[in-house]
Amino acid sequence: MKNTILTLAIISLITISCGDKKKDEAPKAEEATTEQAAELTLADGEALFTSKTCTTCHQPDTKVIGPSIKDINAKYAEQNASIVAFLKGETSPIVDTDPAQVAIMKANLDSFVKDLTEAELKAIEKYMLSVK
Ligand code: HEC
Repeated sequence: MKNTILTLAIISLITISCGDKKKDEAPKAEEATTEQAAELTLADGEALFTSKTCTTCHQPDTKVIGPSIKDINAKYAEQNASIVAFLKGETSPIVDTDPAQVAIMKANLDSFVKDLTEAELKAIEKYMLSVK
């Protein structure tokens, strides 16, 4: 009997302390995710470029629907412009300014690109710039 009470007491103690721990740890876990996100690698960028369907319209060397990655890099280097800023909708297109073409890319920016985090956009840019 004593043992049962003791066991119950221990179990409830564990439960209580675990419950508290979870509350305490939740924000920390979020911080950790943000920190990890800030360190996305070139490989992450490449994976995102594929999974976010950028490859459908942007190939390294050839114009498919959108300009090739190399053409984009050349123009962005020449004008010292930021791909991240373009993807965030902060700057106007400089590579292909044909309105029909701009509309295609703008549709992406307004739909799924706006949901990407700063870290994801930076990783995508890192990957694009690595294409030489
Ligand atoms: C459905 C086709 C399509 C998809 C998918 C697509 N793009 Fe584009 N993209 C275009 C077209 C067309 C242009 C040319 C118009 C323009 O330059 O704004 C373009 C232009 C660009 C430019 C150059 C903008 C400039 O300054 O002219 C960048 C950078 C770019 N895309 C990045 C991306 C990234 C990153 C993704 C994936 C998140 C992506 N695109 C997905 C069609 C696409």
